[in-house]
Amino acid sequence: MLIRPRRNRKSAGVRSLVQETTLTPQDFIYPLFVHAGTENSPIDSMPGCLRWSEEGIVGEAKEAFELGIPAVVLFPAVEESKKTPLAEESYNPEGLVPRVIRRLKKELPELVVITDVALDPYNSDGHDGLVETNERGEAVILNDETVEILCKQALSHAEAGADIVSPSDMMDGRVEALREALDSEGYQEVSILSYSVKYASAYYGPFRGALNSAPKAGDKKTYQMDFHNVTEAIRETQLDEQEGADMIMVKPAGAYLDVIKTVSETTALPIAAYQVSGEYLMIKAAAAGGWVDEDKIAYESLVAIKRAGAQMILTYFAKQMACLLSK
Ligand code: PBG
Repeated sequence: MLIRPRRNRKSAGVRSLVQETTLTPQDFIYPLFVHAGTENSPIDSMPGCLRWSEEGIVGEAKEAFELGIPAVVLFPAVEESKKTPLAEESYNPEGLVPRVIRRLKKELPELVVITDVALDPYNSDGHDGLVETNERGEAVILNDETVEILCKQALSHAEAGADIVSPSDMMDGRVEALREALDSEGYQEVSILSYSVKYASAYYGPFRGALNSAPKAGDKKTYQMDFHNVTEAIRETQLDEQEGADMIMVKPAGAYLDVIKTVSETTALPIAAYQVSGEYLMIKAAAAGGWVDEDKIAYESLVAIKRAGAQMILTYFAKQMACLLSK
């Protein structure tokens, strides 16, 4: 036999030389939940994750940063009493997210602080945009009115010191509007990581439990994408590119590797992929049952996402994997 592919796998040393994809802590963006309470409280729907206090989140971010994770993304659990139909709390300059940004940037100036821009944690309707009920009693999501509020929200994050704002709402035209709003207030340096390709997915279930942010009526299918399609992923990405996005995101990740691949071949922008709560939970649950090896499956799932074409990965396993990789 002239050709024996197994020669390239014959030892750990040779395998490491020919290895094409490398996962490192620098690839990770660590999603963190925060609330206004004083306790770090467990999240029923997401075992292994905590709803951090304002104090606790700083400690957790510091540990992650010291393990080599460059960035965190913040998700606020807002008290029900602060949720309103117009989501005014989303742009309160003294709100939970701006307070946490200030604190993180003060104590960890080099940590990249990313914020989610969308109304669902603040909106009593539980939708990413403002809701109007039509004559048939259905929830209609108002695009342009929502975008105006998103701009105020992003400005409140920029003013507090956010490095990157990340619109996850899927309204049309929001990237351009955010870019203009940020620039007009002197925040040319604040980047936009756009959730360009976000599918209406059942994989977000546990996250909505964590924030108690599930829609009260209807679903998110009129703004989040239909998972039967991939061509419109290219369209959404191209639009966000033209509108001034600095980076784009594909979400979920694991069941959408083909989408990551397609998008990576059609955009010059860096791509983030979000291994979402349902993906995390499926691994956690199987491992808790004793059926799979949690570290190994988590690692493999993340390598697959990177191999498909993602440069960075939002994952609830970030810290656990960074610990594993540093061994
Ligand atoms: C909301 C938002 C969601 C997630 C991130 N931002 C939920 C949704 O769109 O319903 C999901 C993250 C996850 O499931 O881990 N704007």
